[in-house]
Amino acid sequence: MHNNVRPENMARIEDFAQAQAFIDEQIAAVREQVGSKKVLLALSGGVDSSVVAALLIKAIGKQLVCVHVNHGLLRKGEPEQVIRVFREEMDANLIYVDATDRFLDLLAGVSDPETKRKIIGAEFINVFAEEAAKLEGISFLAQGTIYPDILESDGVKAHHNVGGLPEDMDFELVEPVKLLYKDEVRVVGEALGLPRNMVYRQPFPGPGLGVRCLGAITRDRLHALREADAILREEFDKNGLAGKVWQYFVAIPDMKSVGVKDGKRYEGWPAIIRAVNTTDAMTATIEQIPYPLLHHLTERITHEVPGINRVLLDLTPKPTGTIEWE
Ligand code: XMP
Repeated sequence: MHNNVRPENMARIEDFAQAQAFIDEQIAAVREQVGSKKVLLALSGGVDSSVVAALLIKAIGKQLVCVHVNHGLLRKGEPEQVIRVFREEMDANLIYVDATDRFLDLLAGVSDPETKRKIIGAEFINVFAEEAAKLEGISFLAQGTIYPDILESDGVKAHHNVGGLPEDMDFELVEPVKLLYKDEVRVVGEALGLPRNMVYRQPFPGPGLGVRCLGAITRDRLHALREADAILREEFDKNGLAGKVWQYFVAIPDMKSVGVKDGKRYEGWPAIIRAVNTTDAMTATIEQIPYPLLHHLTERITHEVPGINRVLLDLTPKPTGTIEWE
């Protein structure tokens, strides 16, 4: 096992050949560590856990058990993509848990952002631990820890990570990408054959749409948020912004205003568009979305998404605004 310090002479993984060498090395190391035992992985569909899953599937096949918990706060199409890529294309041992109702029931009426985050984090652990308890003979827990997580383990990421597991789940850890930086993880992911939109996707908070459906989450407003966000992502893709802008999303506050739809008074929520650029998420600047695209987005979102009657643009850099609204 590696220790937790990246050797100074460790070459950066920048191309396919280097990624392939790393993959081969890790396959051997994982096989050596795990033998014929079973490994459990919480697979969120994010870059890090997806790359670990793909690597471990190569190394140990069905000895890996992936659990994908859908907390009901994922973006449109995400759980479907996890199932398609891992179960159907990579033939992984994947347990899919749709826990949407559990999460949304617990969150009903809760408006305080920190309480929302705590509920989501705690329930994620409950669901995952329940699934783990149903399985027999698991000896290892795989995690998508990456090098910045180790460098920042002063509590910053701990607060951010939904996936922190209870201490009584005392499995030995398998962390094959823990000495890699994010850009290296992406190169390895591509070399493993993961789809580009999975490997190069923008950061997405663990509590997901829960921190963008502002205040107390309701199913109808969450649905509107998911649809509006999907339109924003589709249009950023089509217009060449997806690979260029660091993070972009919609937030929907818990307030309505008067509008007119189809000649009738229509009370709806505003969809707030936020698109930011940064290198480290500590400060951020605003992407200048072309006005014609903003008009097109407004047209599509107000017409296609039930419940929305206005589109607003957040022009606030960080500081003073944080990237997320909650
Ligand atoms: P803020 O809002 O603090 O966000 O400017 C900085 C970056 O962190 C992401 N973020 C989170 N990521 N769990 C996560 O995994 C969280 O609870 C969380 N909150 C914020 C945010 O999306 C941005 O990229």
